[in-house]
Amino acid sequence: MSQIASQLKMSKLIDEKKIAARVKEMGEQITKACKNEDLIAVCVLKGSFMFYSDLIRSIDADIRSDFLGCASYGDAMKSSGEVKLTLDLTNGIEGKNVLLVEDIVDSGLTMSFLQKTLAARNPKRLMSAALLFKPEALKTNYKPDYVGFEIGNEFVVGYGLDYQNRYRNLPYIAVVNSLN
Ligand code: IMP
Ligand code: MG
Repeated sequence: MSQIASQLKMSKLIDEKKIAARVKEMGEQITKACKNEDLIAVCVLKGSFMFYSDLIRSIDADIRSDFLGCASYGDAMKSSGEVKLTLDLTNGIEGKNVLLVEDIVDSGLTMSFLQKTLAARNPKRLMSAALLFKPEALKTNYKPDYVGFEIGNEFVVGYGLDYQNRYRNLPYIAVVNSLN
């Protein structure tokens, strides 16, 4: 394990190869669903930046990129339950096909909030993709249209996901076992 990984007690959950293969599959599925129509791919910052950049390279469609900032957690490992928009889209989405790209769905509060917020802007179609999904943690009836991996109710870092804004640069996904 690398120097940074040894600072927290963590164990590898999903390695680079598995992530790459699954992201490619998701890209192919989304390509089919797009049926040659153009797409606005929305990166939900910050956690999904790595997944987003890999996923859009696996989608064969006329994509325009936009970014949303959303915060709910602060520095805690449990959701505060409050979701707020910290950065809005640059362009309108009315009448457009939109794909929301999120790193992880935990309670589902963030995605439910974003889904409602963007649906109110009357897109033609609103789809969502999440790399990770924790079904046991779900507190809403929200389920992403495309899910990379279902995981247990554990806190994970790496491949864009953070703990206190660190560990995003791990190339794999690891479960945090305990804090030092
Ligand atoms: P939700 O609103 O509870 O579904 O939480 C979604 C957001 O919380 C994600 O976009 C992540 O930024 C963060 N989050 C949830 N679970 C984890 C985790 O296990 N590791 C790192 N961040 C997480
Ligand atoms: Mg986060």
